[in-house]
Parts: sequence; structure tokens; C-alpha cells
Amino acid sequence: MSVAKPLPHDSARAHVTGAARYVDDIPTPASCLHLAFGVSDHAHGRLDKIALDAVRAAPGIIAVLTAADLPFDNDVSPAAGDEPLLAEGTVQYVGQPIFLVVAQSHLAARKAARLGQIGIDPLPAILGIDDALAANARFEDGPRRYAKGDAARAIKAAPHRLHGRIEIGGQEHFYLEGQAALALPQEDGGMVVHASTQHPTEIQHKVAHAIGQPMASVRVEMRRMGGGFGGKESQGNALAVACAVAARALGRPCKMRYDRDDDMTITGKRHDFRIAYDVGFDGNGRIRGIAFTHYARCGWAQDLSLPVADRAMLHADNAYHLTDVEIVSHRLRTNTQSATAFRGFGGPQGMLGIERVMDEIAHALGRDPLEVRRVNFYAAARDVGQAGGLSAPRAARPPEGYLEKGESAGRSDGSAAARDVEVASRAATGEIPAAVAPVAKSSGVQTTPYHMPVTDFILHEMVDRLRADADYDARRAAVAGWNAENGILKKGIALTPVKFGISFTLTHLNQAGALVHVYQDGSVHMNHGGTEMGQGLHQKVRQVAADRFGIGVDAVHVSATDTAKVPNTSATAASSGADLNGMAVMAACDTIRDRIAEYLSGLHQSSPDSVRFDAGKVQAGDATYSFAEAVQLAYQGRVSLSATGFYKTPDISWDRIAGRGRPFFYFAYGAAVSEVVIDTRTGENRLLRVDILHDAGRSLNPALDIGQIEGGFVQGVGWLTTEELVWDDAGRLTTHAPSTYKIPAASDVPEMFNVALWDGENRAETVYRSKAVGEPPLMLAISTLMALSDAVSACGPHYPALDAPATAERVLAAIRRARG
Ligand code: MTE
Ligand code: MOS
Repeated sequence: MSVAKPLPHDSARAHVTGAARYVDDIPTPASCLHLAFGVSDHAHGRLDKIALDAVRAAPGIIAVLTAADLPFDNDVSPAAGDEPLLAEGTVQYVGQPIFLVVAQSHLAARKAARLGQIGIDPLPAILGIDDALAANARFEDGPRRYAKGDAARAIKAAPHRLHGRIEIGGQEHFYLEGQAALALPQEDGGMVVHASTQHPTEIQHKVAHAIGQPMASVRVEMRRMGGGFGGKESQGNALAVACAVAARALGRPCKMRYDRDDDMTITGKRHDFRIAYDVGFDGNGRIRGIAFTHYARCGWAQDLSLPVADRAMLHADNAYHLTDVEIVSHRLRTNTQSATAFRGFGGPQGMLGIERVMDEIAHALGRDPLEVRRVNFYAAARDVGQAGGLSAPRAARPPEGYLEKGESAGRSDGSAAARDVEVASRAATGEIPAAVAPVAKSSGVQTTPYHMPVTDFILHEMVDRLRADADYDARRAAVAGWNAENGILKKGIALTPVKFGISFTLTHLNQAGALVHVYQDGSVHMNHGGTEMGQGLHQKVRQVAADRFGIGVDAVHVSATDTAKVPNTSATAASSGADLNGMAVMAACDTIRDRIAEYLSGLHQSSPDSVRFDAGKVQAGDATYSFAEAVQLAYQGRVSLSATGFYKTPDISWDRIAGRGRPFFYFAYGAAVSEVVIDTRTGENRLLRVDILHDAGRSLNPALDIGQIEGGFVQGVGWLTTEELVWDDAGRLTTHAPSTYKIPAASDVPEMFNVALWDGENRAETVYRSKAVGEPPLMLAISTLMALSDAVSACGPHYPALDAPATAERVLAAIRRARG
């Protein structure tokens, strides 16, 4: 079996030896030209005169293009059509491309790009959330609202009530490989584009429109990215389109890559958010009613902001059952970089809102925040749905009907009344704590604020185990002991859960394709629609292919993702790369395998089902062949050894306007304990120890999954502690280089960092019952912010209301608030 093996990343050796080829490493013809953008130095204004003589006169310049020179569409937006490649009429942020320099060298292009004389009549710039609200500058006509029950009434009726808000900073992706593209003009007006992109099909689409060609004459290739993290879903469009337009105009290959400062100045980042909350709760900390207001700072163009802000709303509940809830979301337009996808895609911000609420309720009641979290948990999977009786820690098998008809558990409520009675009686006998028993409603199954039944909730068991493994209770007591004795260094500890919805919320994106060839020697060549950005997707998918043929992974070869091999792909995003492409590859392999089996069974008068593919051998009747021999026979029997595969996620549907449906195929779960220490004189802080238990279902590759968990967690810690984006009053990003923007270094990883995988299969019918793992672990880092809040709380009686990122300055300010 090749799946479930902890194999290293297929490019691990190439990554560390430097042999791994990225876009900028592709050997280019000597005639290749190099591009750079001349950009706006105003946050908002009317474009008056563009004087480019000095640019044209600079050494090594071949051409300079403005919007007026573009032959076809001047748009690089993913959907809304609101993002010109080169500014026209107005400029909308500092860093917006206005003209394009084509030069003999990268350096010549960059130097000349600084020489443009751009006349701009300044207009008032909207920079922050308050400005945008005052000006009613937003995307969509008004705020979105999702609701269930009657939040206002429930909040009023609750024994306790509090309200507050949290400010959450954005985040720069800081992929090690910056944005890059290379366009090679073809003889028929077509174009081959190499782009560092998570979304080759979108590059193909945008390039085709920009050069007036059908998609069929544009081919996009992507071997690997040096990190994407969501920053290469749409933000690479501009470079690829610029290269293609210049290559078409000049008939020569064109290449563009952003220097780090340009990359940070020009491209979008994680959305910063403000989340206001008003919550009513009881003496146990159980939430009775809650209202959230999200304010998302989206920047100048729409980009992916609507689905990002939707996903924030969809994670406002995190792991907690809310009976009466309202979430209102404002998507605000500002004169800053257009905020974009970033690992978690709004989920982290939404989740942080309710984790802050849990923390503040616990503070108000003087309880352990973990107890408050637990009383609010959704009911355990074992207690709801149709899968009763299966016990932890093994996740329950999906109910029969689910597997056969692709029906979701809990959607048919034939036995709802019976379940209600069962749950209620078990709660009454104390088998389920009353606080976590589902509220008796007609359906018996608890639903999210967007009315989706939660039937796979395993955090009770996971948290129990993590609590024990991490020695949470003893350490919490030790932290209290330390804080009682030490005035200057204060410690804090927190355990927080993650429940993350898996699927693109735009339902039609949940599809994937694959192309598999088996050659006469038994070697396998495979392509699928997913892209490799370091996460190990190709290795996982290879493991699936190898397993279907019963051969070793070394016999399975993957080449660059290519729009000519697998068409109409979705972005590799939403953590769904392996879920979708693994299934598509499985389908393609099974088609070929079945053809071989059919042929061999004919030779041996046996049934096709009895042909076995295992350990590099194929057994048919009495004969045993090597895989290569079997393939050779099939080839000689004129059996097609090539197939495509296709997959679409079943059983999902979503109405994003009404806020109702089943947007997710399943949830991925995790929990983390962080312990921190702060210096109360300087605000400096350190992460001492982290324990994580994460649910990757039946992991396709535990080594890669643990790598994703560690990497995602540390990236989340960076977001919530040191990574601070600062814009000045003129809208200039002042933190545009590693000298001023601090991502975690190896030395910031906690000395004790225990990561374990939960041993349980996905209840949904995914590829080998695995679960998506790319994004959810980032949100485990919320435990670090909550541990810092705990440490600050030891400084005084008041709630510290620590915002993110918890830089030394913010920690100091929070200490002052705690002291009052
Ligand atoms: N891991 C690495 N090393 N590099 C990346 O760029 N991107 C993350 C995550 N893990 C990323 C990563 C994001 S934002 C997503 S959506 C998923 O990987 C995408 O890949 P998958 O769907 O194959 O998990
Ligand atoms: Mo990931 S933010 O979905 O690319």
C-alpha cells in the first residue's frame, strides 16, 4: 500500500540541493525581454499627464506601454472586471501599476520604471475601516446578514451580557519565491505561459482575453511554486498578462518577476478585520444569543473579497453551537492593496471573533476558558445523526445511506424524534453533560448559523485526549503558581479548538480532472489539475495512483500542471487539492486498471474482478505477471492505456445570499495548547510549548500532513504575534521588506512542539477517507494569542482585550488595560 506512508516530499532533495526549478530558473532564449511596472505614488487621484520620455530614453529600454497601448481587455481581476492591468483615469492605491517597461534586463527595466513623470490630481483617500464606513465605500450594496433564531431577544433574556470588539491585522504572504511569469509567443498567435500560480486556468483565461485569442491557443504551465499561501490565486494575473501582451507586441519572450519590495507594495494580503460582538450568556458561560458585526478591509478592488468575507461569517461559530445568532458583514472598499486569499480565506478572522468571546466570557465569570469552550461545543458525532453507538477515538463510519446514495447524515430526519429522546435521556442520566446536549428542537441535529447540520463533531474526544497528553490541568495550575510568585515575567496557557469547513463555497469549483498514461514498460505518467506549492500535493496524488496499480510510487511520474493536459481546473485552494485531484486520478487509474483486468481475464477465462494488482504484480487466473508484463500484454492486445478522470464533490449546495445550505462536504478538526511567557516591562513574549492534536482523517501521508500542521501553525503564530502591516497617512505601506516586517524564524518555533494526528477516518467518503489539511492548522495558532491574553490577565483584574497581532507594543497596552 502506497497511501498512508510517511514518504518525504517528492521534491525534497531538489528543494535542498537547489535543483528544483521555479519559473525564474527556466532557461530563456537569448532574445528574452524583462518587464517592470511603473507604479502610483498616490493612494487616490485622477491620472493627469503620463510623461514617459525619460523612461524611454533610459539604457536598455525596448518599449513602454500604457493602458492606451493595450490591444484588448485591460483587466486582470478574477471575476468582477474591476482591476485594470494598467491604470486608466484614476489611481486607487500606492503601488498600482500605471505603465509597463520592457527592457533588455531585469535591472534596466526596474531602474527605468522609476523615471516616469506621472501627474496625479489627488482625491481624498479612504484608508481605514472608519473612513470607509463614513464614506459608505463598500462592495455589494449593503452588508450581508446570516442569521438563525432571534439573537437580539436571546441576548436580552440572558442572565449575563457583554460586548466588545477585536481588531485583527492582515498578513503578507511572504512566499519565498516572489510572483513571476514568463510568456513565449508561438507561431500561430498563441502563447505559452509559465506562471507562478495556484490557478493556471485563470491565467489562461485572462491571457486569452488580453491578447484576443481563444483559450485553446493559450497554454499555461506550472511546475511548482516556492509557496503560494493564497497569494498566488489571483495576484499573479497581472504579471502573466503583462508578459503575454508584451510578447505579442514584440514577438519575443517576456519575463517578469517582482522584487520583494515591489511584491509587498503591489500585491494583496490577508484582509484585516474588526469584529464587534454582543453576547448574552448564562452562569456556566453557555452562550444564549450572540451578534457579530464583521468589518473587512478589502482594499481597492473586489478580487476574492466576497467569498473571503463569506467564509469569515461561516466560521463565526467555530466549534460552538449557537442557537440564536446573527452575523452581519461589511465589505469595505479602501485605497490600499486589494486584499486577497490567504490560508484560511477569512475563516481565521471569523473564528478569532468567537474565540475572543469565549476568552472574555471566561474572564467575566472567573472560569477556566476551556470549560467555557466545552459547554458551548456542538454535540458529539456519536450523539447525533444516524451513526450512534460508535465510540471515540475512532471516528464513526458514515451511516449506510450516506455511502450509497451520497445523502448527508442528518438531512433526512426520519428518526429525529427518536434521537431527541435518546439524547435528552442520556443527558438526564448524566451520560452527556446537559450543557453539551443538543437543544431539543424538532430536528434533534444541531445546525450551524447557516443551517447546516453538524454530524461529524469529534472535538469532545479530541480535546479530552489533548488535555491529557499535554498535561493541561497540571500546567494550568503551574502557570497560576508561577504568576503568583513572579511579578515581572507572567505566563499564560490556552487550549483552543478548530472546526474548518472543507469545500469551495462557490459550489461549481468543487471539480477536478486528471490524465493518466501507462507506458509499455509499466511506468506511469500522471497529470492532474492541482498545483504544487510546497504542500506535497503531487506526492499524495502519486501515492494514490501507485496504490490503484499496486506499484511503487517511484514508477509514477508527475510533470508540470498544464492547461493543455487537464482543462478547466479550479485554483488549488480551499485545502481541497488532494480531495479533488486525488479522486480524479483514482478514477483515471481505475479506468485503465479495469481495462487491463478485463483483457487479462479474457486470456485466462477468469472474471475481471478476480484480477489482482498488488506489490508490483498482477495476478490473473493462475498466472502472475509483473506490472510491466501485464501492461505489455494489454498493449499487444490493443488495449488503451491512457485515460482521463473526473471528480465532483457530491452533496453540497449553498445560497450565499440567503446564508443557507450545505456549503461544506465535511469539517476538519484540530486543537492546540500554547504556553507563553511575557515580559511585563517590555511586552516581549515567547512561545514556550505547543501541543497539537489534528484531524487529517486517514492521512494519505502522515509526514507531509505533520509538515502542513507545523508550517500552518507557525504561519498563524506569525500572523497573530509579530507580523504587522503599517500604512502611513498617505496610504503607503511602510512595512514592505523583511527589515520592517517580521515573519517567524526557525528560532521562533517553540522548543517543545508536539504534533500528533488524530486517528480516525473521515465520515465523508473522501479519497481513502483522508481529510484536507492545508489551511485548518493555521487557526490552531489562535491558542497562542489566547495564551498571551491569559498571561496579560495575570497582571490585573480587568479584561485586557488584546488585539492582533500581539506585538510587544500591543501586549504593553493590554497590560495597562488589565491593570486599569
Ligand atoms: N503549504 C506550503 N508549503 N506552501 C503553500 O503555499 N498553501 C496553503 C496550504 N499549505 C501552502 C501550503 C494553502 S492557502 C492552501 S489552500 C493549501 O495548502 C493548498 O493545497 P492543498 O489543497 O493541496 O492542501
Ligand atoms: Mo488557500 S487561501 O485557499 O490558497
